[in-house]
Amino acid sequence: MTPILELDDVRKHYTTRSGLARRTSSVRAVDGVSLRLERGETLGLVGESGCGKSTLARTLVLLEKPDSGEIRFDGRPVAVTDAASLRRDAQIVFQDPYTSLPPHMKVRRIIAEPLMIHRIASGAELRARVDELIADVGLPGTVADKLPGQLSGGQRQRVSIARALALEPSLLIADESVSALDVSVQAQILNLLNGLRERHGLTLLFVSHDIGVVTYVSQRIAVMYLGKIVEMGPTADVYGNALHPYTRALMAAVPSMEHRGRERIEVRGDPPDPRHPPPGCAYHPRCPIAQDICRVESPPVREWLPGRHAACHFALDGVSDGRNTG
Ligand SMILES: Nc1ncnc2c1ncn2[C@@H]1O[C@H](COP(=O)(O)OP(=O)(O)OP(=O)(O)O)[C@@H](O)[C@H]1O
Ligand SMILES: [Mg+2]
Repeated sequence: MTPILELDDVRKHYTTRSGLARRTSSVRAVDGVSLRLERGETLGLVGESGCGKSTLARTLVLLEKPDSGEIRFDGRPVAVTDAASLRRDAQIVFQDPYTSLPPHMKVRRIIAEPLMIHRIASGAELRARVDELIADVGLPGTVADKLPGQLSGGQRQRVSIARALALEPSLLIADESVSALDVSVQAQILNLLNGLRERHGLTLLFVSHDIGVVTYVSQRIAVMYLGKIVEMGPTADVYGNALHPYTRALMAAVPSMEHRGRERIEVRGDPPDPRHPPPGCAYHPRCPIAQDICRVESPPVREWLPGRHAACHFALDGVSDGRNTG
């Protein structure tokens, strides 16, 4: 089956001016990303703050124009002119349920708005559709007449999801949409997203800096570092036996994932300044297994095992000697 979304070598760089001299510097927020999303799956996108996750999410629904590379939606190249229809078919649920809803609008109106703007429903039909969406995200009908400020964080998140579902998208992107919530509420939202995916045949791109959360909901995960995908593969395989030392470090940093004698490796130090990435492999200054080649040669993404991609000169080292098998 044709993947719902394919990216080939997509780049998005930002140029900024700063300092007294107004010197320009460039940030390679998304630096040659290739990936595919299969229909009906959940792909988790994970990486530290600033690695380019949101830029990638925004670029792939053309909220940002890519500098280069190709994006295909449902097999068709997405010319920038298709942006409106693509944005309808691919919806983003934003990060913070506390600020992403208009505070003076009642929930019914918030969810109805996309249906009104696109002239999809009006009158009794609109009312019925909104009630249906409210029920679909597990909210009681009484929230319809409330303002966002009268709802809990989890309820607001559900309202955001209902609003995103109103136009019946085939792809839903959830960008850090649970991190502002406490753990038990997070789990409920993750379960809701999973249920919606199954009921509506949705494809999900789940974006978070928390690899524990990402592995919980995703069939496959993609790990991003400084604008590049450094590892991608089925969650169960990556969880049991990551190919990239950065993935291993991210997993070791999650307390609940540190178990069964998994080697404890910290993500050492801060991420490098994205305006001045290190030469060679961008991860080498923090990498416990870096060799000379890593300091000079940037490793391309390779498929080392079926369905398992990594950008590391020594991707199979942790696999062959079983060090990373937990
Ligand atoms: N509009 C912009 N102009 C200039 N630089 C930008 C812009 N948006 C993002 N950046 C830079 O691009 C890089 C990637 O940012 P992005 O927001 O995509 O990261 P992220 O992985 O989503 O981070 P977080 O986990 O904090 O949400 C950062 O260095 C950021 O400062
Ligand atoms: Mg972000």
